[in-house]
Amino acid sequence: VRVALVGFGYWGPNLARNLRACPTTTLAVIADPSHERRAVADRLYPDVPTVADLASALLADVEAVVIATPASTHYPLAVVSLSEGKHVLVAKPLATNVEDAATLAKGAERAGLTLMVDHTFVYAPAVRKLRELVVAGNLGRLLYVDSARVNLGVFQRDIDVLWDLAAHDVSILGYLTDELPVEVAAVGIDPLAVGRATCAWLTCRYESGFVAHVAASWLSPVKVRRMTVAGEKRMVVYDDVEPVTKIRVYDAGADVDPVEAQVSYRTGDVWSPLVPVTEALAVEVEHFAAACAGTETDWPSGAPEALDVVRVLEAARRSLDERGAPVAV
Ligand SMILES: NC(=O)c1ccc[n+]([C@@H]2O[C@H](COP(=O)([O-])OP(=O)(O)OC[C@H]3O[C@@H](n4cnc5c(N)ncnc54)[C@H](O)[C@@H]3O)[C@@H](O)[C@H]2O)c1
Repeated sequence: VRVALVGFGYWGPNLARNLRACPTTTLAVIADPSHERRAVADRLYPDVPTVADLASALLADVEAVVIATPASTHYPLAVVSLSEGKHVLVAKPLATNVEDAATLAKGAERAGLTLMVDHTFVYAPAVRKLRELVVAGNLGRLLYVDSARVNLGVFQRDIDVLWDLAAHDVSILGYLTDELPVEVAAVGIDPLAVGRATCAWLTCRYESGFVAHVAASWLSPVKVRRMTVAGEKRMVVYDDVEPVTKIRVYDAGADVDPVEAQVSYRTGDVWSPLVPVTEALAVEVEHFAAACAGTETDWPSGAPEALDVVRVLEAARRSLDERGAPVAV
């Protein structure tokens, strides 16, 4: 599959590296309006032409466009790419509102083109292992998820911290539960007056009573990427910063005697299942190529999943504006 990469800022180079390494994709052209970024691309990939915009990239006889530009540009760039008959892989979030995301989903379906979103973590081996444990009933009934995705930076200019960081948690939650929350509530702060929430706390309530809580911040002294998934039988801590033991399963919990109303605690073994060392983006790019070639029809970050993530984030934005009021998804 011949691919045009649009956007070569921070994230674009990671996609470029994987598009080069994947045996079924050819990185045919790189587009970025910035001279500096094109110079970096020329140095890294001297054999790949660089151009200033999507229109010029589309002249390079490509079948697919990979978009790694700021969120507010995803919709216009994806609309043009789809209307030119190209398959599209777009960085998260698919769009910055539900209406635009739905238009893209419909457009791709009508044209019979692949529209995938770079929800990177649903291709991460650790998250796939976590899903395996949940689906196999290893944890029992899910009670809650508590997630922290915080670091110092990178402040985005066109989206708040929930659209930037919590987008990952929301996509992981959809992948783990196959469910959308029925209601969300979010509070956030903008202590440096940058014009959007830089620290925010999102609560998602599900029909079953299960609750997921996500803390997202660009203003933390340390990098944390930790998700606790508590089940009735077992609990898992998924720590993406850990080099080896990313998943730890705790044979721990509490039982309540319904008659005596007494709580007894269980603390047993802690084990760490083997998680293959494979880069999530490599898996994702391979899926994308197979989807474009029509050899694969099922992948975990297609238009329906991307639209669900945008639905949750849009409800979260309304809740932020209403100072934490619950908003139906
Ligand atoms: N999956 C992940 O873990 C992950 C991590 C970081 C960023 N991202 C996503 O990647 C996207 C880009 O983020 P970034 O941090 O690389 O931003 P960035 O600002 O570092 O880079 C964006 C690049 O796009 C270029 N650009 C802007 N408008 C363009 C246009 N119309 N056509 C072509 N190029 C254009 C800019 O010149 C810049 O070089 C965002 O959607 C972000 O959410 C994903």
